[in-house]
Amino acid sequence: MILVVPTELKTRENRVALTPDVVKELISKGFQVKVETGAGEKSYLLDSEYTAVGAEMVTDRNALFSQADVVLQVNAPDPADIKKMKPGGILISFMYAAVSQDVVKACMDAGITAFSVDAIPRISRAQKMDALSSQSNLAGYKTVLLAANALGKIFPLLMTAAGTVKPARIVIMGAGVAGLQAIATAKRLGAIVEVSDIRPETKEQVESLGAKFIELKGDDSIKTEGGYVKEVSSDFLKKQQELITKHVSEADIVITTALIPGKKAPMLLTAEMVKGMKTGSVIVDMAVEQGGNCELSELNKTVTKEGVIIIGESNLPSLLPLNASQLYAKNISTFLLHLADKDKFHWDLEEEITKGSLIVHEGKAVHPSVSSII
Ligand code: NAI
Repeated sequence: MILVVPTELKTRENRVALTPDVVKELISKGFQVKVETGAGEKSYLLDSEYTAVGAEMVTDRNALFSQADVVLQVNAPDPADIKKMKPGGILISFMYAAVSQDVVKACMDAGITAFSVDAIPRISRAQKMDALSSQSNLAGYKTVLLAANALGKIFPLLMTAAGTVKPARIVIMGAGVAGLQAIATAKRLGAIVEVSDIRPETKEQVESLGAKFIELKGDDSIKTEGGYVKEVSSDFLKKQQELITKHVSEADIVITTALIPGKKAPMLLTAEMVKGMKTGSVIVDMAVEQGGNCELSELNKTVTKEGVIIIGESNLPSLLPLNASQLYAKNISTFLLHLADKDKFHWDLEEEITKGSLIVHEGKAVHPSVSSII
């Protein structure tokens, strides 16, 4: 089976789907691996490292796609690249199928099969394949460093002969994978951390990291499923904004990570709330690509509004490409080995991980998340 690793063409993307150590492992299991020339460069991985473990470097991108039995990417390729794949070929990447109609259609038109790693069920058995978690974890770390760098203050309490420096105050909204790593990182740097989430089970996790949980009484409008928030009413969000306003006005940094899968991110920081923040304070809106948790954040820009520095970086894991590629490669190879051996895919279509992540099967859209858009 020929596995193919193209260069990621998305702007601001530094990651690569397979690293040389993982390529070595796959080759030892009998797969052939072809990598586009320079694909690992932005992750500081040289072509020579790939060839040293037995991969073939290919310069002709068209040839690479047309030869592939399986294309492995971080981001879904452009429809123009998908078109070059042979019918029956297989694509594995992040896809966010519910909002990527053009990619799903291109897979159907090309008669290929597409698995989306963001749709892999988050069950214990699939933890090693969970690319959402591995990448969010890194993003949560990086977001604190970006905020620290933009803030004109240090994080820890400092008692010096010249006076006492008070510790920085950080409010983190959303205590999922990214939020929890952000809490741990901010605590390690010495900040005082307060956290808001609407899943009650997060209180204990937040407190175990030494942060303070901002109590907010939930209501019937909050619907959760499989550890995710599915729905929350605008009335509830209003109540939450009122409660958070005081904490935000005293904060030096606010980091927002709140997401509702498949929907626009909830609005947590209104323009009015930003106006009430201290001059020179910093917001990092990790949900900026899903519409943003902050009314004033701008995609892939750092802007200063109402005296507040607002960072809207959309691809935080890509800023740590060495670790991000390393973990992603392990996630995706474990997933591949779950689905296939060197000779064939098992096609166990009722198996939970396969069924949950299979978006298009031999040209036919099969996933519930795409039924409404096709
Ligand atoms: P996410 O990225 O979808 O959301 C981030 C956080 O935002 C969540 O904690 C959510 O509760 C929170 N949020 C949503 N609306 C909010 C609001 N209005 N105010 C404040 N916070 C709000 O979630 P993520 O990080 O991908 O995972 C969430 C959970 O999924 C985990 O904490 C865990 O329970 C579960 N999970 C399970 C795994 C497994 O069993 N293998 C692996 C990873 C996650």
